[in-house]
Amino acid sequence: MANEIKNQLLLLQEKAEKELQELEDIDLLEELHRQILGKKGKLTLFLKQIPQLPPDERVETGRLANKTKKNLESIFKEKTQSLRLSASQALSLQEQIDITVPGVQTPIGHLHPVSLAIFEIEDIFSRLGFVRRRYPEVEHEYYTFEALNMPAHHPARDDFETFYITDEIILTPHTSSGQVREMEKGSSAESAERLPIRMLNIAKCYRPQIDASHTPMFFQFEGLFLDKNVSIAELKGTLDFFAKNYFGKGSKTRLRPHHFQFTEPSFETDVTCTNCSGRGCKFCKQGWLELGGAGMVHPKVIENGGLHPKEVNGFAFGWGVERVAAIRYRIPDIRLLYQNDLRFLEQF
Ligand code: PHE
Repeated sequence: MANEIKNQLLLLQEKAEKELQELEDIDLLEELHRQILGKKGKLTLFLKQIPQLPPDERVETGRLANKTKKNLESIFKEKTQSLRLSASQALSLQEQIDITVPGVQTPIGHLHPVSLAIFEIEDIFSRLGFVRRRYPEVEHEYYTFEALNMPAHHPARDDFETFYITDEIILTPHTSSGQVREMEKGSSAESAERLPIRMLNIAKCYRPQIDASHTPMFFQFEGLFLDKNVSIAELKGTLDFFAKNYFGKGSKTRLRPHHFQFTEPSFETDVTCTNCSGRGCKFCKQGWLELGGAGMVHPKVIENGGLHPKEVNGFAFGWGVERVAAIRYRIPDIRLLYQNDLRFLEQF
């Protein structure tokens, strides 16, 4: 009898251990505990039988049964703890993932400040009827110089320090090279029928200069307006319109006498400083900032374009995109525009 009980106890422990090992659910664990160690559990029933054993077997069997009970209790305890631990770990992991937190935004780029300026300039002049044009950046000397009244060896060419590709092909140093090209368009028609011409040529230009207000590659926007009886007042009005729309309503402009071979008379155009509104500060020259050149198109240039200077006249201007952007945003050094530094670019 005693041996049989011992065997059964051992079997019970073995079986319980095996079942426990595979258990992953805390409710099933409690159920198993009840089945073995509960009031009506298998082991409890064994323990109840012990007093009925003969006295000499009672002690030893009793000791074994108690030992089994202790073993099983501690295995159950361990298992309960480990299941609770993994359950709480799973819970805390869930807590870390807060599904209400907004997702990480993918960074979105935006247009480069020079592109922004180009689109804005294009938009302002389109309201006056100017049409955006593009002409070659790698250009023939003819359109850059000869056609603009600067024959070979003319000293005025020095003002446009130029990158030469071959003897006659250059990187255009200004957008004025688009003037005669624009006039030549539709040249089969009669002079008067080709009017008015309202070109806005925005393009890259190249000159070997680098400092706070020059980069070897830069953009100019060139306006050309040709019609009949065009006056300087219209040039001034166009300049004012641009300045008020681009720099702000309070901006004023002025024309200063200057010289270009392809305009007569010629001017430098200035706008009131956006930093001090014209009072004078570190940023400007006594309240004014230089925009660029302008003037009434020279009769020779009109003639080179195949139009009749007696019938046709008009004005042209060529200003720097980086320069106007620098004036508007008070950028102290235009080289910043081409350094690809996100700390700078993200401000636009
Ligand atoms: N092309 C001149 C320059 O680059 C500017 C200009 C354009 C002057 C049109 C007069 C007329 O300096």
